[in-house]
Amino acid sequence: MSKPKVYVTRRLPGEAMDLLYQRTQVTVWGEDAVPPPKEVIKREVADAEGLISLVTDPIDAEVMDAAPKLRVISNYAVGYDNIDIPAATARGIVVTHTPGVLTETVADFTFALILAAARRVVEADRFTREGKWKSWEPMLFLGQDVYGATLGLVGLGRIGSAVARRAKGFNMRVLYYDVVRREDLERELGLEFTDLPTLLRESDFVSIHTPLTPETRHLIGAKELNLMKPTAILINTARGPIVDTIALAHALRERRIWAAGIDVFETEPVPPDHPLLQLDNVVVAPHIASASIATRTKMALLAVENLLSVLEGRVPPHPVNPEAMGKR
Ligand code: DGY
Repeated sequence: MSKPKVYVTRRLPGEAMDLLYQRTQVTVWGEDAVPPPKEVIKREVADAEGLISLVTDPIDAEVMDAAPKLRVISNYAVGYDNIDIPAATARGIVVTHTPGVLTETVADFTFALILAAARRVVEADRFTREGKWKSWEPMLFLGQDVYGATLGLVGLGRIGSAVARRAKGFNMRVLYYDVVRREDLERELGLEFTDLPTLLRESDFVSIHTPLTPETRHLIGAKELNLMKPTAILINTARGPIVDTIALAHALRERRIWAAGIDVFETEPVPPDHPLLQLDNVVVAPHIASASIATRTKMALLAVENLLSVLEGRVPPHPVNPEAMGKR
């Protein structure tokens, strides 16, 4: 039996590629730092049964229509806002994702941004390297305390609750807002459920952990930022468009909020002249919250297992639209 044709939009870490070479006829986009243009994806999927895509690849109806044999789109990410799910379901294409394996790694990085923004770690590093340190000073790089502060979680899914568990170790009061109330976690971790305005008014740190949907696009804009304390810090490791980043840059410049830690942007890669990048009170990163060696390797293996399951007639571990299964 001939092996199914598969297109992968970037080289994946670990043994995942070996598995693909053994079990499929795989073609891989050759560059690591640049995603394939849409025209290339359309050409490569023309006779493919499987596609492994990344958050950088918009997979819409146009791409799917160029792929009459496509049975599975395996996204190498937990988020799948880059894929038109209704269009995939209508065409009987199963979409899968990689939840679970990256939860703790993303929660770790959320805390890295909380601590870095609160204690001005990046500014202090730059200052020290640049030879500007003249003496120990009582007022040098004064920051905000994390221990004992109030953390507001916008979204209490897997990653939000992993951040809440870490916050308990810092003796934080933890508020959360979500469309689903989790009384089990409220009891287990001592969390408090609030509406969004209350969370924004009372939190010292606001951390976003909700998927990007039409409802969450610009969930945090000028009005919401105005509700936050002048000493508050906003953290976003979820998706850039959940925050209106121009409004955020204004709020930070005018010191209406104190700082931000941002791993995701409305446009990625963020252009170097973006207003947020001109500010010292922002710690930024290039969408790397899940980037540990172990986690990116597990994500790759899971993405491949999702893909092979559909191609080999098994139920994939993490389908997004199970109703599409068996339709093609
Ligand atoms: C995801 O998994 O959705 C991340 O944003 C990429 O790791």
